[in-house]
Amino acid sequence: MQIETARPSDARAVEQLLADADLPVVGVTAAFEHGVVARDGDAVVGAAAVEVFGEAGLLRSVVVESSHRGTGVGLALVNGAEAVARAAGVRELYLLTETAAAWFPRLGYQPVDRETARAVVGQSIEFSLSCAETGVALRRRLA
Ligand SMILES: CC(C)(COP(=O)(O)OP(=O)(O)OC[C@H]1O[C@@H](n2cnc3c(N)ncnc32)[C@H](O)[C@@H]1OP(=O)(O)O)[C@@H](O)C(=O)NCCC(=O)NCCS
Repeated sequence: MQIETARPSDARAVEQLLADADLPVVGVTAAFEHGVVARDGDAVVGAAAVEVFGEAGLLRSVVVESSHRGTGVGLALVNGAEAVARAAGVRELYLLTETAAAWFPRLGYQPVDRETARAVVGQSIEFSLSCAETGVALRRRLA
């Protein structure tokens, strides 16, 4: 299993992973300009991306194909996306989630008021989706 920078040719596989996990695909092509994938041979089995807004970023589209979950791929993808974010000058990484609010605190993310997140990364298309109203916002300051 390799965590690698996402390539344009990964787009279709990433969209399929997101669709299978009921995660939004809108805006994904742009987001994966700062993205990583988990590759098992030729297969893309996981992904994570960062939308960059100056020194803030939105971590999104974190997904692992169901048969590969529970083996640390998700953690490795988040670590990889954080490295991409740092390299792009991001110092604070936000995320919105409806499904994994109990997982991200293990990775150093802490709940933050949704309006605080909206003020910083509200330009993201994710904030125009329904999860912006019901999702939990979390934040991590990158060292
Ligand atoms: C969330 C997700 C990316 C985690 O990927 P993963 O490769 O299974 O994660 P890891 O192997 O690094 O971590 C596994 C651990 O996290 C826990 N965990 C995984 N998903 C969780 C969730 N949604 N909520 C709470 N805990 C979760 C597992 O129970 C496991 O715990 P253990 O180590 O005590 O056994 C994956 O479950 C997934 O793709 N879910 C569907 C999409 C999704 O919800 N993405 C987040 C949207 S922002």
